[in-house]
Amino acid sequence: MQTLLRDLRHSDVDMIFSWRNHKEIEKWTEKGEVSRDEHWNWYYAWDRSAPRWIFELNNNPVGFIHFKWLADAKRTLEWSYYLNPFDLNVLRANGLATIMLSMSLWKINQMLHDVKIIGRVKLQNLPSVRLHEKLGFKEQKCIENERRFIKWPKSL
Ligand SMILES: CC(C)(COP(=O)(O)OP(=O)(O)OC[C@H]1O[C@@H](n2cnc3c(N)ncnc32)[C@H](O)[C@@H]1OP(=O)(O)O)[C@@H](O)C(=O)NCCC(=O)NCCS
Repeated sequence: MQTLLRDLRHSDVDMIFSWRNHKEIEKWTEKGEVSRDEHWNWYYAWDRSAPRWIFELNNNPVGFIHFKWLADAKRTLEWSYYLNPFDLNVLRANGLATIMLSMSLWKINQMLHDVKIIGRVKLQNLPSVRLHEKLGFKEQKCIENERRFIKWPKSL
């Protein structure tokens, strides 16, 4: 099994648009469905210090993980991630997200110092809650429908 994290490319953007608006992904987002224009604007507004990575399995894109800076002078990154929703039934529950997220934490640690990682998860998203727990995140707070997890730099 060959795995790779690589930067998002221009040629991936339409694929990620279709993943992002798939019902299996959209239901976990804050914003809901996005238009093609909004999606391309999101791509062009990319601050490249906040990674956007495609996760490949045996040379096929199977996952996407992206980070955004919170408004605290580049001390905290919030991450979001998903597997290819069109193949979710075969991809999920094989440990792939665990690999993708572990590789991401390792890579972030190589690139940046003293950065916290935040994950926001809807209460009902039990696989994602479990992922944060097994990757050593601490639960910070629970607000309405959402649980918030944090990983401190020294534990990356
Ligand atoms: C969430 C997602 C990334 C998980 O991917 P995955 O490859 O299935 O995850 P993994 O197999 O690496 O790990 C999932 C863990 O959750 C556990 N899990 C799965 N369903 C569960 C449930 N209903 N209750 C509790 N734990 C559950 C698995 O057993 C596994 O834990 P383990 O390794 O200790 O056994 C994938 O399902 C996905 O893309 N979902 C849609 C988008 C999404 O939810 N993104 C995250 C938004 S916060």
